[in-house]
Amino acid sequence: MDSIVKKIKDLKERRKAVILVHNYQPPEIQDIADFLGDSLGLSQKAAQTDAEVIVFCGVHFMAETASILSPKKVVLVPEITAGCPMANMINAEKLRKLKGEHPGAVVVAYVNTTAEVKAESDVCCTSANAVKIVNSLDTKKIIFIPDKYLGQYVASQTGKEIIFWEGYCPIHIKILADDVGKAKREHLEAEVIVHPECTPDVIALADKVLSTSGMCNYAQKTKSKEMIIGTEIGIIYRLQKENKDKKFYPVSKHAVCENMKKNSLEKVLWSLEEMKYEVKVEEKTRRKAKRAIDKMLQYSRVD
Ligand code: 13P
Ligand code: SF4
Repeated sequence: MDSIVKKIKDLKERRKAVILVHNYQPPEIQDIADFLGDSLGLSQKAAQTDAEVIVFCGVHFMAETASILSPKKVVLVPEITAGCPMANMINAEKLRKLKGEHPGAVVVAYVNTTAEVKAESDVCCTSANAVKIVNSLDTKKIIFIPDKYLGQYVASQTGKEIIFWEGYCPIHIKILADDVGKAKREHLEAEVIVHPECTPDVIALADKVLSTSGMCNYAQKTKSKEMIIGTEIGIIYRLQKENKDKKFYPVSKHAVCENMKKNSLEKVLWSLEEMKYEVKVEEKTRRKAKRAIDKMLQYSRVD
C-alpha cells in the first residue's frame, strides 16, 4: 500500500500543485514542503510559482495573501478554521475610524491581517522587513497595525512617530523575560534569538531579533553552538534538522500556536483530492490589498 506521503506526492504532480509551508507547522508537514519559510518568503514564492494549485499549510491570512498575488491559481487550505487570532484583532471598520482620527498618517499593515484590512492600508510588512519598510517611508507619522509589540520594536529601531493598535500575538506573550533569564543561566554560552512579536522586556534580553526564516539563516552562519529561541516552538524542528551539530533551547514550551498545528498529512491529502478548501478574495478588495503587498515586495527587493 502506498504511504500517505507518496499519495500526496503523486496527486500533487497530477494537480500541478505546490505545497507552501510555514516554519511553525508540525514536523511531518514541514517534511513534505516544496517551500518552507516565513511570511515574506512564502508570499514571494506565491507570487512567483507557475504551479496551477497552491496548497497552503499555515494560517488563513497567508493563504489569502497567496490568492491576492496569484488570483488565477487555486489556493487551498487543508483546514479552514486555522486562523491567526492577532489578525482578527482589527477589522476594516476599526481601521477606517483610526485613519479618520489621524489624517495624513501612512498605514503600515503587518501581513498578519485580513484582506479587507490590507485593502485599507498603504503598505504591508512582515517581521523580516518591517524596519526596512518603515525606514523607507518619507512620512514621519505612521499608523502601525495590528501588533503593538512589533510596532514598538520598529519605533525603537527607526525613531519614527508611530501610532499603535492594541493588538498582539497571544502565543508570543507567553514567552517571558524571567524564562529567558533562567535559560541564560542554564546555558551560559548560548546566544538569545527572539521574534519581534515578543514583548519589549524579552526583546531587551536578546542578542538577535529575527523573523522565523531569519532565525534559520542566522543559525546556519553563526559560530555559536547553542541558541535560546524565543518564538513558537514549531521552528525548533527545522533548526535542529538543519544544524545537527548545534543545540536549540526554546524559551517556553508553552509557546504553541494551536492554529498552526491544525494541519495533518491526512488533511493535506484530502485537500488535494477534493480541491478544498479554496481561499479566494473578492476582486475589488483583492486589487486594493494587492497594492499594499506589491509595495512591500518592491521595497523588500531594494537593498
Ligand atoms: P514570520 O513571518 O517571522 O514567519 O512570522 C509569522 C508569524 O505568524 C509569527 O507569529
Ligand atoms: Fe498568529 Fe501568533 Fe499564531 Fe503567528 S503565532 S499565526 S501571529 S497567533
